[in-house]
Amino acid sequence: MAGPAEAVRYKEGPGWRESVWRNMESRTTRSGVKILGIESSCDETAAAVVEDGRRVLSSVVASQIDIHRKYGGVVPELASREHLRQIVPVVREAMAGASLKFEELDAIGVTQGPGLVGSLLVGITYGKTLAAALGKPLVAVNHLEGHVRAVFLEAFQKGQEPRLPAVCLIVSGGHTVLYEVRATDDSSGGALLYRKLGGTRDDAAGEAYDKVAKLLGLGYPGGPILDRLAAAAGNVAAPVKFGPTKTRGNALDFSFSGLKTAVLYHLREHPEYSDGIRKREEALRDGHRAFAELLPLCDAMTLGLVREFQNAVVRDLVERTMRGAEECGVETILVSGGVAANSQLRATFEMRARAKGLHVFFPDRALATDNAAMIAAAAFAGFCEGNFADASLNAKASMPLA
Ligand code: KG4
Ligand code: ZN
Repeated sequence: MAGPAEAVRYKEGPGWRESVWRNMESRTTRSGVKILGIESSCDETAAAVVEDGRRVLSSVVASQIDIHRKYGGVVPELASREHLRQIVPVVREAMAGASLKFEELDAIGVTQGPGLVGSLLVGITYGKTLAAALGKPLVAVNHLEGHVRAVFLEAFQKGQEPRLPAVCLIVSGGHTVLYEVRATDDSSGGALLYRKLGGTRDDAAGEAYDKVAKLLGLGYPGGPILDRLAAAAGNVAAPVKFGPTKTRGNALDFSFSGLKTAVLYHLREHPEYSDGIRKREEALRDGHRAFAELLPLCDAMTLGLVREFQNAVVRDLVERTMRGAEECGVETILVSGGVAANSQLRATFEMRARAKGLHVFFPDRALATDNAAMIAAAAFAGFCEGNFADASLNAKASMPLA
């Protein structure tokens, strides 16, 4: 195994090379590596410090939900502007939370993509500037790898070690994708190998939650409120049933736009829903968006519809992931991304995995949704490999993991 200095593979960068080299040579051991992670791919400005890719020293997330809510989704121009406003205070807070000075960092990790280019560029430009000013290495991180690392971070905090190989479902507002994840032969830095098993052909699952919530006058983002309303539905009669989604070709691909359209047609065919929708829209306009305020405005038919929608999403996500696990012959399932916070999804995965003798791991809510601790953790693997970025680093709207 090469020592840290030998492990460095440079990508030329003006002014960076020497200082990075000095930095690496002065280190004799890989423990105590502190990385500042920066995340700005969508509507969360986040910074975090993680030690050795395992211990979260601080994690700060500034959410822009209040800004985008009235548009029912993320507005890219507003997102970049807000990242610009937030990035400096958010990073400062993360450094203060970790009780560290910038000079004590070993590297900066920043999300390169996938995501909104204007938003990504704010984090990338800040990260590049900081790395150059400090003479520290910069590591470019794939946001999707960050979501995979979030599961490991959570497990490490609980003293658990997910065994590889595994299948990993990343399910959020922007992504629904299933990977096989393996350790590399030299996994001292925890580098992982990915093979894509399937992905959504249209909408992401979180996007379907957000769109259905909008149709029902339940606000944005839709996932958390639909999750709670589905649980509150109990055994009310089902006003409609949604069958399993069929995808031609790859059986591990997902599709959610048909389900969203089925909800839309069902609502159009049943004007009985409109009164409730109008009342909830009014409540939202008056700022009453809490679960306790919206629940009384949902009749049994609406609750039944929400429950059936969620049953269909959860069934689809779980079935395909379980099938992927079986095909790959793995014992471990990792589930990450904003929708991984869904209580029914978690309970169903736990039940199905237990029945098959598999282990399933989720991050808690803070690590499941976008955050920078997962970016810092992913950057650690790149750091150990000496896989550094230079001043030419650019944002990538699309950036497949495999
Ligand atoms: O990972 P994330 O914070 O951002 C993206 O990368 O998209 O995920 C946000 C998505 C939103 O679509 C939101 O509605 C969904 O995750 N979400 C949920 C739940 N909490 C958040 N979906 C279902 N159930 C939840 N409890
Ligand atoms: Zn994400």
